[in-house]
Amino acid sequence: MENQNIILAIETSCDETAASIIRNGSEIVSNVVSSQIESQTRFGGVVPEVASRHHVEKISLVIEKALKDANLEPQDLDAVAVTEGPGLVGALLIGINAAKAFAFAHGLPIIGVHHIAGHIYANALVQNMEFPVLALVVSGGHTELVLMKEHGHFEVIGETRDDAAGEAYDKVARVLNLPYPGGPHIDRLAHSASEGVEFPRAWLDNSYDFSFSGLKSAVINYKHNLEQRGEDIVPGMVAKGFQDSVVEVLTTKTVRAAREFQVKQVIAAGGVSANKGLRNSLEQAFQKEGIPFYVPPLNLCTDNAAMIGAAGSYMYQAGIRGNMSMNGNPGLDLKSWSI
Ligand code: KG4
Ligand code: ZN
Repeated sequence: MENQNIILAIETSCDETAASIIRNGSEIVSNVVSSQIESQTRFGGVVPEVASRHHVEKISLVIEKALKDANLEPQDLDAVAVTEGPGLVGALLIGINAAKAFAFAHGLPIIGVHHIAGHIYANALVQNMEFPVLALVVSGGHTELVLMKEHGHFEVIGETRDDAAGEAYDKVARVLNLPYPGGPHIDRLAHSASEGVEFPRAWLDNSYDFSFSGLKSAVINYKHNLEQRGEDIVPGMVAKGFQDSVVEVLTTKTVRAAREFQVKQVIAAGGVSANKGLRNSLEQAFQKEGIPFYVPPLNLCTDNAAMIGAAGSYMYQAGIRGNMSMNGNPGLDLKSWSI
């Protein structure tokens, strides 16, 4: 598909206020992310009201900076893409209202983008997608295996039945008294230990679904048992044992699905795909399988607006347009969003 356009993209679904300019679906002209991690760390997680307040304070500055960094004027743009859902409704609405105001003021069309589609399309910023593609989406709110037969077509073949992978990382990090967000801390600790505690793996046979709440409980029970005996846990061993379990299940199921659906490419997406253990494990597994495997650079794995611009650009090319009645949709379904 010939893709000629310049898109301003906005992302405010959780705790990053982000704007980016993307040319022709694959070139990042500018990419601005204002993180709230510092203030969310004080509360041990994302507090929706705090997130919304930050977005309100930052959104105009972030959009202005994206234009300035790109050395572009609003009249150079073809459309505004914005995350429509899923996410925190108050947070989403700030991005959506900013996008509507900008689009209205400059006579541009507006395109609503699914946040997970955005994570997947982060990969389009680093290489051409060749279909069928299998995407492993692992973020703070989602754990899904998504089969894409073509651009804009998403089939969820497996998903978590309880906690998302990132959520499990963050909860286990709390148990180990590590700051929010816990994923990077557990990753680092896991690499510092040579041996891990043996924790269970939830295979859910014959299904591509996932479950991480049993693993989380196993970590909590392990800590309580040791405490009752007056012993201290070794955080590195717990982190390694937990990470080994998560990574083995994610890798094994992704390989099985890639074989069954005979995909041409496997991609990983979402915040947890920044995990070193997971990246190494998937790289090795797919090298063995002889299937090309891609994962975006770290700054495009966690929330950003460039990925929303990449997905929005393909939607624009396919003729998809939103309108001024667009609303934040916290439960937006990926399948129903397919074009
Ligand atoms: O995609 P993302 O930035 O936001 C959502 O859409 O949820 O993902 C955030 C999640 C958090 O749970 C965070 O702990 C996790 O990604 N994460 C990691 C790593 N970096 C971020 N998890 C494991 N290892 C990492 N290196
Ligand atoms: Zn995300």
